[in-house]
Amino acid sequence: MKSFFITVLVLVIIGFGAYAIMHKPSAMPPAPAPTPESAIPSPAATPAPTPPQHALPSSVPSSVTVNIQNFSYAPSTLTVKPGTTVTWINNDTVPHTVTSNSGSMLKSPTLSPGQSFSFTFPTIGSFAYHCAFHSMMKGMVVVQQ
Ligand code: CO
Repeated sequence: MKSFFITVLVLVIIGFGAYAIMHKPSAMPPAPAPTPESAIPSPAATPAPTPPQHALPSSVPSSVTVNIQNFSYAPSTLTVKPGTTVTWINNDTVPHTVTSNSGSMLKSPTLSPGQSFSFTFPTIGSFAYHCAFHSMMKGMVVVQQ
């Protein structure tokens, strides 16, 4: 009877020991796990959504096309923001140019039918231009914020 009681006591002690051992390792992993988890998302998540949001609005008005057809520029007057690249496409049957009236940097080579010319306007201002071959062909690019 006495030995049975001791056996039960030993089993209870062993059982408690096993319980304590099994719960010790399980308590260890959760502690280090949240540390790297919380450290990784905060630096990675903060800069990631920021650049795409800023890149989208600035890239939207960066490129505009002017069609050259029937001895005219369409649209003849174009309003853009600074940094916009304007591309003239000669869809006419004869050569034309895009030549600044004031002698600024806006000066294309001769554009044969099918050829195009691009110019990026870095600063605000009004840029009047014409065709070097046909003085009645006139156009204007207004660059403003
Ligand atoms: Co012309």
